[in-house]
Amino acid sequence: MSKKEVLETTEAQIAVHWKEEELYYPSSKFIGQANLNDPAIFDKFSLDNFPDYYTSFAELLTWYKYWDEVLDTSDAPCYKWFKGGKLNASYNCIDRHLEKNKNKTAIHFVPELEEENVQHITYQELYVRVNEFAALLRDTAKLKRGDRVTIHMPMSAELPITMLACARLGVIHSVVFGGFSASASADRIVDSQSRVLIVTDAYYRAGNLLEHKKNADDAVKIAAEQGQVVDTVLVWERYPGKYSADTPMVEGRDISVNAELKKYYGKRVEPEQMLSEDPLFLMYTSGTTGKPKGCQHGTGGYLAYVTAMSKYIQDIHPEDVYWCMADIGWITGHSFIVYGPLALCASTVIYEGVPTYPDAGRSWRIAQELDVNIFHTAPTAIRALRKLGPDEPAKYNYDFKHMTTVGEPIEPAVWKWYESAVGKGRAAIVDTYWQTETGGFLCSTVPGISPMKPGSCGPGVPGIHPIIFDDEGKPVGPGIAGNICIQNPWPGMFQTIWGDRDRFVDTYFGMYNTKPDSKDWRDWPYLTGDAATVGEDGYYRVLGRIDDVINVSGHRLGTKEIESAALVADEVAEAAVVPVNHEIKGKEPDLYIALKPGIEATDELAKKISDVVCEQIGKIAKPRKVWLVPDMPKTRSGKIMRRVLGAISNKGDVGNVMTLANPEVVEEIKDMVDNS
Ligand code: WT7
Repeated sequence: MSKKEVLETTEAQIAVHWKEEELYYPSSKFIGQANLNDPAIFDKFSLDNFPDYYTSFAELLTWYKYWDEVLDTSDAPCYKWFKGGKLNASYNCIDRHLEKNKNKTAIHFVPELEEENVQHITYQELYVRVNEFAALLRDTAKLKRGDRVTIHMPMSAELPITMLACARLGVIHSVVFGGFSASASADRIVDSQSRVLIVTDAYYRAGNLLEHKKNADDAVKIAAEQGQVVDTVLVWERYPGKYSADTPMVEGRDISVNAELKKYYGKRVEPEQMLSEDPLFLMYTSGTTGKPKGCQHGTGGYLAYVTAMSKYIQDIHPEDVYWCMADIGWITGHSFIVYGPLALCASTVIYEGVPTYPDAGRSWRIAQELDVNIFHTAPTAIRALRKLGPDEPAKYNYDFKHMTTVGEPIEPAVWKWYESAVGKGRAAIVDTYWQTETGGFLCSTVPGISPMKPGSCGPGVPGIHPIIFDDEGKPVGPGIAGNICIQNPWPGMFQTIWGDRDRFVDTYFGMYNTKPDSKDWRDWPYLTGDAATVGEDGYYRVLGRIDDVINVSGHRLGTKEIESAALVADEVAEAAVVPVNHEIKGKEPDLYIALKPGIEATDELAKKISDVVCEQIGKIAKPRKVWLVPDMPKTRSGKIMRRVLGAISNKGDVGNVMTLANPEVVEEIKDMVDNS
């Protein structure tokens, strides 16, 4: 093959060359007990029956008032699901279970330090703690229905307690991933106009008690500079009664939750009767431009959807012990640690720390001790566990009936280790493909019905009707790569981008909608932003993002977001970020920097720029390497050629660069990277 042909190989051709994987079948034992094992579900959930088939999802919940309309499309593509219905998410996750199950564990909180005992919080205790904290939010923090509050907390039992207390009052929560920086927290405070920030003083990570309260001080300061005043900071204590941060509490602004709660012992708060279409929470996610998007999720549609997905795809029964290893600060944790499992009255595990701390057997000891039978994690964690302790699972006595992989494509070899070593050949596996925006799953096999295929997520879940379009909007056939879209709306879909309906419509519907005034959902296919192929068997294989987004450890980082963070350093003239393949994280950002004239390239400066990126976004965005280059490779019209930089970082073929404005710089950069 000539150089040119190599360069122009399309993703479709790559897909065609993939080897077909063997199918794996769930055991008859699993199928026999599965919540969903009737293949007729796919007929019932055919497009002809849309949208009424979704009422069976809503019926999993307890409503104060049933809906007037299943789907209101009058403001398409901003939809209202179960319109006019009234419910409360906190009631559905707690109160309704008390009569029969108050004594059952709702949350198993596992501290990172193995010498600290696991906390088992019953539904009754969860009820008490959520009510008392809701009273505090209402009376001390003066929060009311419709207000937004930013929550910047690590993995802890207090995090879902905080979320559910907000939901009880109808306060819209916006949880920021605990590992994000103060600056990322501030951006979200400003965008959501929060006047209350809820944090934790400290938490354990890889054996160290990390100071976290300082992030609150910095975030409040940065938010104020951008015009958003935070008047109240509520601080939970990692060790109740003992403040573990170094930064002082600020008089008149900071309130120790654990001390303040004493005023509210015994208090109960009636759940607000929320409209189904009222927002439940915001979850920010990266996009192609610098500013993260606040995905607004509704109450009734979202809760119905995640409850149904937890029941039918996660196969959660009330007697199950369910461990999703994601962080609650991401959508996976919202949907599949908190809302879905608790709505089903399951026991959900929350682990504070690192899965391989203090050793590679830790995760399996937790599974053994709590007798976890449903396990949920991401390829990045599976790769790390496999690398550090390939033989560890066999040493422990646990029995998973079901396992999930989520967040990025999984390599078939990694899938097979997950199946044989972690699942011991006995667990049904689902590869769930979805997004922050979608609230719950788009594609997955139904574990009690369909066989599994390593590396493919499977068909659309019941009710979801995917389609792959080419750039012109023509559907493409099996084996051809294109843009994967969803033809129909679904209840878990986000309602809009907070405060930016135009961006919502443009980003997700602009590409294929031809009738912007249409009220017919058929005119509004949802653009996921991923490339995919479908096999003859209807199984989808996701290839990755079509936009400038890098999937690092299963999470989205906008390249623009990292580039604008780097530009905060004074010395930087231009920044370009490209994804580099990484054995465990999947991808990592490589950061190319052109300095302002007269500034000397030094290792200290490279480190400074890397630190600035971490300060602006968080450690998750830490560049693999900062390359201080003499100039960026550019087209004659001045566009930075990220594709060329990407090829250099990945030691691939840069192709023919002679048409660039400055071809000589490519060789220089290549030498620099190859010889480092
Ligand atoms: C992007 C969404 C889904 C919740 C966690 C991440 C990629 C997600 C899969 C999968 C292949 C996947 C897509 C998607 N992705 N799941 N099973 N197979 N790719 O949520 O941060 O919103 O990222 O993650 O590219 O668009 P997110």
